[in-house]
Amino acid sequence: MVDQTLLPHRFETRALADCDAAALAIRDMTVRGAPLIGVTGAYGLALAAAEDASDVALTAAYAKLLATRPTAVNLRWALDRVQALLTAAAPAERAALAYGEAARIADEDVAACEAIGEAGAALIRAATEKNTGRPVNILTHCNAGWLATVDWGTALAPIYKAARAGIDLHVWVDETRPRNQGASLTAFELLNEGVPHTVIADNAGGHLMQHGMVDLCIVGADRTTRTGDVCNKIGTYLKALAAHDNGVPFFVALPSSTIDWRIDDGVAQIPIEERSPREVTHISGRAADGAVMDVLVTPDGSPARNWAFDVTPAKYVTGLITERGVCAATEAGLRELFPDFA
Ligand code: MRU
Repeated sequence: MVDQTLLPHRFETRALADCDAAALAIRDMTVRGAPLIGVTGAYGLALAAAEDASDVALTAAYAKLLATRPTAVNLRWALDRVQALLTAAAPAERAALAYGEAARIADEDVAACEAIGEAGAALIRAATEKNTGRPVNILTHCNAGWLATVDWGTALAPIYKAARAGIDLHVWVDETRPRNQGASLTAFELLNEGVPHTVIADNAGGHLMQHGMVDLCIVGADRTTRTGDVCNKIGTYLKALAAHDNGVPFFVALPSSTIDWRIDDGVAQIPIEERSPREVTHISGRAADGAVMDVLVTPDGSPARNWAFDVTPAKYVTGLITERGVCAATEAGLRELFPDFA
């Protein structure tokens, strides 16, 4: 795995030796992003099967991995896929089967993200037609790039495809407090890909939209209801409200593994992870001497709370960009693209 806690200042990879290491990597956000935690969970279950393939051990491993992070449904989706295969197999065959299935999930994720890229690039291309002589300005929140998936990303895949096709574009990167996935990870990805971008404070997007400086927003998702409500990194909802108020299209890019077909009310039904207040009271960065350190930004003794995600109701979502194309953020829209899903 790429250790995402060290980016953008250090790029290091780590091997995950067992199921406990996989669970810890998800929990401490060494790996993060909905599709990637799904794939890591699947490999975690494969590692568990290699250690002890009994029903009892695998049930415990499944529970341990599932408990790491509650919001992104890709984790449960991937664990269920591997677990279903294992319960039907003899213990001696389980480790090999689990590795095979985890690899399939990873490969399917790459294909899905690339297809999302193609579908979303067409939207960016369409925006250039209204926009002669200046780049298409796209605003994104958090990190939904290749770091958050196996490759390509979800929200960033259309940007990569469009940029590689020669479309003149520029990305506004929300810093994404408290963990700064935009400032540290999305900026890192775009810089490495040579995509023009500017990091902005989380609160700047509304102002930019009021002044015609955003042509479209594209964000990722951690869970989408069958009715098109979208749960994503905290702050996404406020960007969607500002986009709605200013007539800026607001697209959400997601693979079908992010759709939770069981639920229809995102605000009421999606569990929102609450993380340590320390992520709000402290900020991490590199000092002039090169040392990476955490510094306190609040007064000693001020309490803080840290909700990691919020829900954007479907009515504020212009469209969902999936591996099967773009659809309305409605039950009918999703069912038309995914008639074969439960
Ligand atoms: O807490 P994180 O960093 O795991 O949150 C990630 C996001 O909110 C992403 O936007 C989402 O998972 C989509 S990733 C392709």
